[in-house]
Amino acid sequence: LLPSGSVINASELLGSDLALLTSNIRRLLGSDHPVLKSVATYYFSSTGGKHIRPMLVLLIAHATSHISRHTSTKILSNIAIDSPISPNSKILFEKNQQHQSAVSNSSAADSVLPAQRRLAEITEMIHTASLLHDDVIDASLTRRSKPSVNAEYGNKMAVLAGDFLLGRASVALSRLRNVEVVELLSTVISNLVEGEFMQLRNSALKKNAGSATSVASGNNTALASPTTTSFAPSKISRQFDSDIATARFEYYLTKTYMKTASLIANSCKASALLGGCDEAVADAVYRYGRALGLAFQIVDDMLDFTVTADEMGKPVNADVKLGIATAPVLYAAQEFAELDFAIERGFKEPGDDALAIKLVHASNGIERTRQLAAAFCAEAIEAIDTVLPNSDSKTALIQITQAVLTRKN
Ligand code: FPP
Ligand code: MG
Ligand code: MG
Repeated sequence: LLPSGSVINASELLGSDLALLTSNIRRLLGSDHPVLKSVATYYFSSTGGKHIRPMLVLLIAHATSHISRHTSTKILSNIAIDSPISPNSKILFEKNQQHQSAVSNSSAADSVLPAQRRLAEITEMIHTASLLHDDVIDASLTRRSKPSVNAEYGNKMAVLAGDFLLGRASVALSRLRNVEVVELLSTVISNLVEGEFMQLRNSALKKNAGSATSVASGNNTALASPTTTSFAPSKISRQFDSDIATARFEYYLTKTYMKTASLIANSCKASALLGGCDEAVADAVYRYGRALGLAFQIVDDMLDFTVTADEMGKPVNADVKLGIATAPVLYAAQEFAELDFAIERGFKEPGDDALAIKLVHASNGIERTRQLAAAFCAEAIEAIDTVLPNSDSKTALIQITQAVLTRKN
């Protein structure tokens, strides 16, 4: 255990388990079609993303390794999980088998099982698939400081490459031979779509009256938007005002769970289950991942107003431009009633987006957003604090949570 107070470098702690992530994913994405292979592996280069999701999966694997109970699950999670998945991948398979045994002999593998390593890769593949589709939906031309896949190859290839990633992630998932884990990660995929749909309801679809009506008439109450009711300003009572504000926030948080927290929460839980942990531990790490995921996205929504495009490596002030009201705007609307109408119409009138940006900065919206994220970070730490035994991995999980509040990109 490192001395208390020291900052843990999670990448160093995870060693080869994390270092080999992108090369393993590239192997899973082998295809006889060279262009499909290039598009699908575009984001899996040495300059890839922050790998937060796989890092969490691996840290949970380490942190729970001494408290896991079900030896039979653990043994199953230790099985060889590789076999050829495309016609020409036999050679890759053999190479990967050598890699697996090399990792099995290393010290890092003492607490991370092959199935947990594969889960880490699956989470990054699902996340990347969602980004490929997201940049098409948002018409975003930069990601990670380089042209997005849609900018480089066009929308059609970006959508198909995202589907391919999901397909290969599903094959790898089914090969873990754990139906509960398959169910958790499949739920994540549908949650990602639901979250994106909830967001569209408030923005793009509203700009397109016909589609908005057809979607709004669906009978899924969980997706009912609180902002679809039109109202006249003179008739709003204070109570109605606060009900609307509460309903908007609930909707925003549900959407945020779906689009970001579900993947983090369910993959943390899946990692614990693959390690043979009991339900109490699996639930604790789920609650950790849920609160951390909410905090992470809330901070992302805040950074959209506070940092430059260069710092972010992607466009900023993007949300209001897309018609989306996130936490800073929802808080600002509680101070400046004129924002209600701009939110209602998805910032589609000229000047709505500039007004929203101005009033966010004139209000306490940014500070209150930071406080909301801080409350979720505290909830995340509390969820694991007494359940996980002290270890460097647990400390890393706590430090990653604290760092969410100070991140700049
Ligand atoms: C980024 O959000 C996007 C997401 C967190 C999820 C997007 C999900 C879909 C497009 C549904 C389809 C899902 C799959 C699995 C194919 P953002 O646009 O707020 O953030 P950004 O600034 O990084 O673009
Ligand atoms: Mg986007
Ligand atoms: Mg988006």
